[in-house]
This record gives sequence, C-alpha cells and structure tokens, in this order.
Amino acid sequence: MPIMEKETASERDRKMLPKVPVPPLKQTLDTYLKCVQHLVKEEQFKKTKAIVEKFGAPGGVGEVLQKKLSERRDKTTNWVYDYWLEDMYLNNRLALPVNSSPVMVFPKQTFRDRKDALRFAARLTRGVLDYAALIDARALPVDFARGQLAGTPLCMEQYYRLFNSYRYPGSKTDTLEVKMIAAASSSSSSSSAAAAAPQHIIVACKNQFFALDVVANGKQLVETEILSQLEKIVTTAENAAERLPAFGILTSDGRTEWAQARDALTKEQTNRDSLALIESCLCVVCLDEPSGLDPRDTNRALQMLHGGGREKNGANRWYDKSIQIVVGMDGICGVVCEHSAFEGIVMVQFSEYLMKYTTGSPSKMARASSVRELPPPRRLLWKCNPHIQGLLAASGDRLQKLVDNLDMDVFKFNVYGKEFIKKQKMSPDAFIQVALQLAFYKCNRKLVATYESASIRRFQQGRVDNIRSATPEALAFVTPMTDERATFSDLEKMRRLIDAINAQTNYTIAAITGMAIDNHLLGLLRIAKELNMEKPEIFCDETYLASNQFILSTSQVPTTVEMFCCYGPVVPNGYGACYNPQAEHILFCVSSFWENTGTSSAVFVKALNESLLEIRDLCVRSSTKRVDGGQGAGQPHKSGK
Ligand code: COA
Repeated sequence: MPIMEKETASERDRKMLPKVPVPPLKQTLDTYLKCVQHLVKEEQFKKTKAIVEKFGAPGGVGEVLQKKLSERRDKTTNWVYDYWLEDMYLNNRLALPVNSSPVMVFPKQTFRDRKDALRFAARLTRGVLDYAALIDARALPVDFARGQLAGTPLCMEQYYRLFNSYRYPGSKTDTLEVKMIAAASSSSSSSSAAAAAPQHIIVACKNQFFALDVVANGKQLVETEILSQLEKIVTTAENAAERLPAFGILTSDGRTEWAQARDALTKEQTNRDSLALIESCLCVVCLDEPSGLDPRDTNRALQMLHGGGREKNGANRWYDKSIQIVVGMDGICGVVCEHSAFEGIVMVQFSEYLMKYTTGSPSKMARASSVRELPPPRRLLWKCNPHIQGLLAASGDRLQKLVDNLDMDVFKFNVYGKEFIKKQKMSPDAFIQVALQLAFYKCNRKLVATYESASIRRFQQGRVDNIRSATPEALAFVTPMTDERATFSDLEKMRRLIDAINAQTNYTIAAITGMAIDNHLLGLLRIAKELNMEKPEIFCDETYLASNQFILSTSQVPTTVEMFCCYGPVVPNGYGACYNPQAEHILFCVSSFWENTGTSSAVFVKALNESLLEIRDLCVRSSTKRVDGGQGAGQPHKSGK
C-alpha cells in the first residue's frame, strides 16, 4: 500500500463536500471517442471505435467494471484518490527534478552580502513556522472557487500535507507518507495517535545537511535566533576539510536508482539516523552558492528546477521532502515542491504568504538582547564506502544529463492579458488554451494529446482531472488560421474560434464538476486489475496508449504576487507549458528537451507569440465588423460573479 496516512484529522472539514462522482459509462466512452478521433489515423480510429463499442455494450466488460467502481465510490471517501496518486506520481520512475517537481521562482532578490541573504532565509523560515502553525490550528481560511462556477468551497486537505509529508523511493513504486498533525486548537485532543508537529528543519549548505531545531525549551525560535543558527551553519560548512560527500544528489536520481542507493545507505546506523532526521523535518532550507548566471527569468527558473547540476547547487537539495525553500547567495530564490502531496495552487498560496511575510514589518524580530544562546545545529553524518561513492558519481552524471537536456524559455507576453480576453466575453483560460493549440499546430501541422490540469477540489480529497484541450473544434479553428491560401473569411475563422473556446470552456466545466474522462478510465482500468481480469482491449489499444502520452502538458498557475511557477515536460518529445495570466500580460514557462530534435522551446514561444497576436487581430477585426456590439463572442458566462 503506497500511501500511509497516519491520521485523518481533517475528516470533519472534508465531510462538508460532496464525493467525486463516477460519470456515466456511455458519456465517458462517447467523449473519449470524440477526443481521439481527429488525433489518430482513420483506420486506427475505426478499430478503436469497434473496441470501445464492444467494451460499452450492454452486458459487456465496461458495465461490470462500472458497477464495481460505483461500489468503490460508496465505500471510500474519494474513489480515484489512490489510483490517481499511484498512476500520476508514485509509480513514475523518473527523477523528481524537472520531470515531476514544480517550482516557484521568486523575483531576484538584492542581497548586499551573505548576512543579508541569511537574514532573508531566516525570515522565510520564520514565515514557514507561522504558516505551519496556521495549518496545525486549522486556521487557514477556506478557499472558494474562482472563475468558472465560482463561489463553491474547496477541499483544504492538500494544505495539511505541506510540511508533514515525505516521499520514500521504492524499487517499483514510491510511498507517500503523511503524518497528520493533531489540530493545535483542538480542545478534545481526540487524536492521541496523531503525530506531533516536526520541531526541526534541515538546512542544506555546500551540500552538507544540518538539523536546526526550531523549538528550544518549549519556545519557537525568533527570527534573529534562526539567523544566528544559520550563521553557525555557514561557518561550519565553510570548513572544506570537514565536508562529507554530497549525499543529496542521490535524491535527484530516478526513483528506482535512489531506492537501491537508499538500501545501500541504510546498512549503516549513522546513515539511518541522518535519514530519519531528514524524513521527519518540517522542510528543507537550501542555502545555495552563487549560480554565476545572469539572473533573468529563464535562468532563475532553471536554478529552481535542477540547481544547475552537480558542480553547482544540484546536490544542495533533498527532493523527497515536500517543501524546499531555496535562498541563493546571488539572490536567486524560490520554492521547490515534491508534487505528490499537493497541487501547484496550494504551493502558490504558501509561496505568496512567504513572500508577503518577507516584505511585512519585522514584528517577529526579537530585540538583540533577547536572543538566546542556543547549541549549534547538528551536521548530519554519513558513512560512505566505495560502492556508495560509485552511486553518488552515477547519480551526479544522470543529473548532469538532465540539466544539459532541459530547454527552458520563460516568455512574458506583454501585448495584452486577461482583461482584453474578458472584453471579448471569452474565458481567458480557454482562449489561452486555444492559442497554445494554434502554436503547436504552427510548429507541427498536427494536434496531439494535451493535458490541462483541472482542479476537482470541489469534492472531498479532490486533486485534479484532465481537460483534453486538443478538441476537434480547436483543430477546426487552427487549420484555417494557418491556411496560406487565405480561403477562409474572418467571419468563418471567428465562428470557429468561438466554437473552439466554447468547446474548451464546456470541457473545463465538465472536468471541474467531476465529469472528465481520464480519472474515470483509469478507475475502470484499475478495477479490472483488482478483479484479476485480463487487461480490457480498450486499454491495450494503440489509441489509448497514444492518448496518454501528453506531448503538450499545460497548467494555469496564476499568482497575485510577483513570482511564477514552472515545470518540465512529461514525455521526452513533449512540452511543458505553464502559464500565469495577469490583467495586462501573460507569463508562459515553456520547457522541452534539447535531445529531442522535434521540439524547441524558442520555436514554440515564437509560434505562441504569433498565435496570440493573430487571434487578437481576428477578434479586433471581427468586433469592428460586428453590426451591433450587443452579442457576446462566446456562450453565456457561468461565473458566479
Ligand atoms: N466573459 C467574461 N469573463 C469571463 C468569461 C467570459 N465568457 N469566462 C470567464 N471569465 C472570467 C472569470 O469570471 C474569471 O474572472 P476573475 O479573474 O475575476 O476570477 C476569469 O475570467 C478567469 O476565468 P477562466 O479563464 O474561465 O478560468 P478559471 O479561473 O475558471 O480557470 C481552470 C480554469 C481550469 C484553470 C481552473 O478551473 C482550475 O482548475 N485551476 C486549477 C489548475 C491547477 O490545478 N493548476 C496547478 C496544477 S499543478
């Protein structure tokens, strides 16, 4: 069992929300066929259609699985949660940096000197402690949905996993351990089995790891005390003669490789002790050496995603831990998240809190006289041997390959933002998705399976489902837009744009209300496995396999404070495209791999820029031609606002 949730202290909150529904079988199968028809060859589609029809026929395998899935829904809080977590994260063997862990990139900080950087790190750490206290007291205000179908309360459970989760590597599958903390304000103290909040953080400095107790004599450290402890760490780490090998590099490796290395490490008690301290910490604070890079957006993003490899800060990390706060002495700072415990939106809320905390008044600053004399933080010790030495070298080589392979382009589209799109009476998210499809089509003359994450936090323990943005309506729009013979009128193109945006918006609404197809199909597949059935043909079909290779992996991660999120592609021949729509601009983080000759982030960004401009021009030309301005471009907007 890969998930070990020790306590369900958030049970009360979550019961207020409905359970994730199981969509009707026929609806999912029809949508599936609609999603794939235009993406595969005609012959292949005929085959797929026959397989799907057989699967969904009365008395067929589909019905049996659907019935079992409905039973599972009745018996569990969230029928898809475990299936999804394993499929999306825990079974994935790829290295966490670049392939899985999203990052938040802070604006470049200006530090006068090292002490200034440590002051910033101390303040962030104090911010972490305050945020953790809010979570433990269940005092965070409940989030409410914005945008489409605004106003519904959202499941808060992901927040409860921010600081008390740890992803253990396994040889076949990983384990996400979540130690639920008893609510600090709970007078009933009902959960005696619940864990106590962690009382130490791990600080990484020059690839050395230190345990810093954040509580002394029952009292949390104030900011100046944390600063003084960080200074001691830096001084200790300076001594090159005492430095131990860079063990953090192992966590940047493929999950199976890291699991094997961890087995080798745990043969020694010293290593077991160090691992236990890391695995039980609140978070990791990484004090990075200067990167030597020009701190523009793209370079800061790269530093957060992989630390620049072995020779830079790549080993100054511990990727299994959910939250790593990075403070570079050159002002390159941000947050690195292990993704299995929570979604990017939660990471944003936390990061924004931290950023606001650093610019707030230093209320938590103790007067110098009240700073206590504290024992120095303990360096974690490691026992090495030639075998482990070899593993460290191999992990370093593999990280370097990943670093050299990542082609990243952070692009700020400055011509317009959400406000212009809203004025067209179109959903900004749907508009951007259609622009991404046009950009992809410009580069490849075809559309491919696309993933857009849709939050299902309206439901108990809700995580995400997929909006398949490469809709047939999007294809019908991008073809005339790229037709050099200019055979299509603006009226026709506009009609198709509206169709594409409406199709995208409708899919979004279906997804956020639990009616998308990816989770459902995964559920049916997993039920078949649990019943020891032969894998149903629908899941062995070439179309199904191709439809799950997300060559375009996209996600809206908006921020209200200056910072941005980014991540890598999910397949070797794909793009990651994270975007942050603002009122007057849109920030895109496009990633791909250099090794793949068919992709190029710069080429994609150029096509995206053109696409956004061309769609804007089309809207502007069409609106001036419209006889009366009373008709909205899209369908009626269903926002609660
Ligand atoms: N006319 C005018 N305005 C419109 C409109 C229309 N036709 N349609 C939408 N809008 C407005 C909305 O009211 C909203 O206004 P606000 O900025 O004041 O809140 C705004 O445009 C944005 O809405 P929209 O662009 O439709 O997107 P959304 O906010 O509903 O987001 C998803 C859609 C899919 C991104 C969102 O539901 C979601 O799931 N987000 C989570 C994604 C995620 O998990 N990311 C992290 C993954 S790690």
